Amino acid sequence: MIGLIPAAGLGTRLAELTKDTPKELLPVGGKPIIEHVLDQFKEAGVSKIFVILGAGKSAIMEHLGNGSKFGLEIGYLFQEEKNGLAKAIYTGKEFIQEDFAVVLGDNLLFPKPLLKDVVAEHANGSDVTLVGHEVDDPTRFGVIESIEGKVTGLEEKPAEPKTKNAIVGMYVFKPSIFDAIERTEPGAKGEYQITDSIKLMLNEGKSIRVVKHEGKWYDIGTKESYTAANTELEAKNG
Ligand code: UTP
Repeated sequence: MIGLIPAAGLGTRLAELTKDTPKELLPVGGKPIIEHVLDQFKEAGVSKIFVILGAGKSAIMEHLGNGSKFGLEIGYLFQEEKNGLAKAIYTGKEFIQEDFAVVLGDNLLFPKPLLKDVVAEHANGSDVTLVGHEVDDPTRFGVIESIEGKVTGLEEKPAEPKTKNAIVGMYVFKPSIFDAIERTEPGAKGEYQITDSIKLMLNEGKSIRVVKHEGKWYDIGTKESYTAANTELEAKNG
């Protein structure tokens, strides 16, 4: 199993916080967000990881290096244009011939062995394994319909969501996802959504499953979510 960490985004919603520091290097609970992401891979026994960088993100490579200080082997891929998560993941096509796990570089997920459980579920033969988390306002997320862990419907940022089960920034894929990405059409803002690629596979009868997540999830996209993550982790550690 190989790991992939998309970190090519611009972090524009965090405004001055990301002027000098990429979002993924902002500290939460005493260490950069991306180091918490590395913990997920370590706990799951995934030691070979690619971090996907974009323009202005070289500080991440300077910080993580070749991964040896974390007991990992880290390599880097480059996404030329910020045109969506599907295109970020596609940068791994030439280098990945086996099942692989993706954790977004700005998603904090607890407990730390979560990825380990998701990888174990995926090993039962799914083509894609998702993680779902109940949220109050699902309109900002990819939304999952499922029956006993089998995904039956998916929608990206629906105006009228059918469930409250949001797609968390953690996935395990078979390499067949690359073929689905090639066939994915861009969304309204020209971004290629990975939810749309997974939906293509679902419509073709592939096995898409979801693991329910009941721990803590911080999607560090806005100042509010960044402040909330720091406040809660300080309270937990203090
Ligand atoms: P976001 O959707 O939060 O985008 O990406 P962003 O660019 O970081 O932030 P805003 O919207 O400008 O404020 C979620 C994660 O996916 C990565 C980002 O780096 C982030 O870790 N990502 C997103 C990519 O690697 N490539 C993309 O094209 C989009």
